Amino acid sequence: MFNKKIVIIDGSGNEDNDLTSPLAVLIDLLTQDKADVKCYNLKKIKLAHCIGCFGCWIKTPGICMMPDEGKQIIQAIIQSEMTILFSPVTFGGYSSALKIIVDRFIPLILPYFGKYYGETHHLPRYSHYPRLVGIGIQRYHSEAEAKLFKTLVGRHAINFHAPSYSADVFNIEEDNGTLRSQFESVILRSDPFPIKDNIITFFPKADMAFSYRKHEGTRNALLIIGSPKIKERSTSSIFGKYLLEKIAADGCNTEELTLKGNLNREKGQLELCAAIDRSDLIILAFPLYIDSLPFLVTKALEVIANHLTKTERNKPQGIFTIINNGFPEFYQNALALGICCCFAEQCNIAWAGYLAAGAGEGLGAGQELTQPKRFGPPVNHVIKALNIAGKDLANGTAVSINSQNFISKVPIPILPFSIWRWLFPKFGAQFWKRKAIENNVRKEELYAKPYAD
Ligand SMILES: Cc1cc2nc3c(=O)[nH]c(=O)nc-3n(C[C@H](O)[C@H](O)[C@H](O)COP(=O)(O)O)c2cc1C
Repeated sequence: MFNKKIVIIDGSGNEDNDLTSPLAVLIDLLTQDKADVKCYNLKKIKLAHCIGCFGCWIKTPGICMMPDEGKQIIQAIIQSEMTILFSPVTFGGYSSALKIIVDRFIPLILPYFGKYYGETHHLPRYSHYPRLVGIGIQRYHSEAEAKLFKTLVGRHAINFHAPSYSADVFNIEEDNGTLRSQFESVILRSDPFPIKDNIITFFPKADMAFSYRKHEGTRNALLIIGSPKIKERSTSSIFGKYLLEKIAADGCNTEELTLKGNLNREKGQLELCAAIDRSDLIILAFPLYIDSLPFLVTKALEVIANHLTKTERNKPQGIFTIINNGFPEFYQNALALGICCCFAEQCNIAWAGYLAAGAGEGLGAGQELTQPKRFGPPVNHVIKALNIAGKDLANGTAVSINSQNFISKVPIPILPFSIWRWLFPKFGAQFWKRKAIENNVRKEELYAKPYAD
């Protein structure tokens, strides 16, 4: 039944020893059926996180530039017939331990765009992709988080051209026999791919009752920039800083912090937690990475949640999220926002709303929003949205949907979205070809299949 080449990516972190037994049940189930199973226990492997450099597309096509075991894991995945993602359900998403490698899946696809299920995704690099299975383990029951987790795996299956997928969430308290039969059923089943209508329901509504004016004292807004880009200015930082300036102009104290690799160490974690404790309002600005939060943001939320559950707080805190994604459809950000909202609920932080922008790479383009002689599409709609959000937040309230309605507009006025989406892959293809040439890579070489079996 399972006599296949199977790769298991075990995303249990250092604190997840209770997941050892369910994982053993899964491996036993598969190996008894003579499957060729390779399991990667990520907590035992030192991996670098993706820094969004796109070198795996334009410098060494198909191969990540990080010199670590990540490359072998990616090769094993593409050469498998089934890849199983195993993780504790973390705010409805993956653990940071798993997300570090999931972010590094992008060399498996091409930089070029196509239309799949009526929406933009990257073209396949390989002619065959493994079936994808997601197994999430929950320590407490949350239907909302389980639904998010299952949908997330389905979205990856679309992005990575999996021929089929299935995903489910299981309770850690189940006995081994029950888990075994539940695992067997999810591995044999195929779930329908989640399309637009299935994911827009995850956009979280702002808690309009939230007010950080209710308590005494000066208000402090903390901007957390979650883009891991180090070589160029990120769209997240451009949008986030613009908003922060608006809030500062209205008399709020402001502070900013860019997430870095030191989050894995105590120093970085203490720095983040101290900044959180000083803040009334957290503004989280980050890009969509593989349908959810980049590794650094996932790790930051784990660190903050762990800290806040041990800390007594005497003031209301709110969180506002600015997210941008590469594809033109802003709604592809819905699951990531759903995850942030689950985090906020778990930490008793009010959800002060969000801004979600599509085509973020083009809109940010490393330039100030108000810079004269900007290249790229117009950004007036982004400025309007940030101005409205800034006013709401400076007034101490949550952000109304008004600002989102601006940022989700097509950048070129009166151009229908269907034409914008049709043009987008053409601009994108030109951009990637130009980048390849700048790196002395011929455009045919962009299609390399280094791990073809
Ligand atoms: C590892 C990686 C994964 C990505 N995954 C997605 C994705 O699932 N969907 C999407 O629309 N864009 C995706 N993108 C594109 C980014 O969201 C986009 O480039 C964004 O504008 C970067 O924002 P920043 O400049 O703030 O980092 C991904 C980019 C990288 C590097």
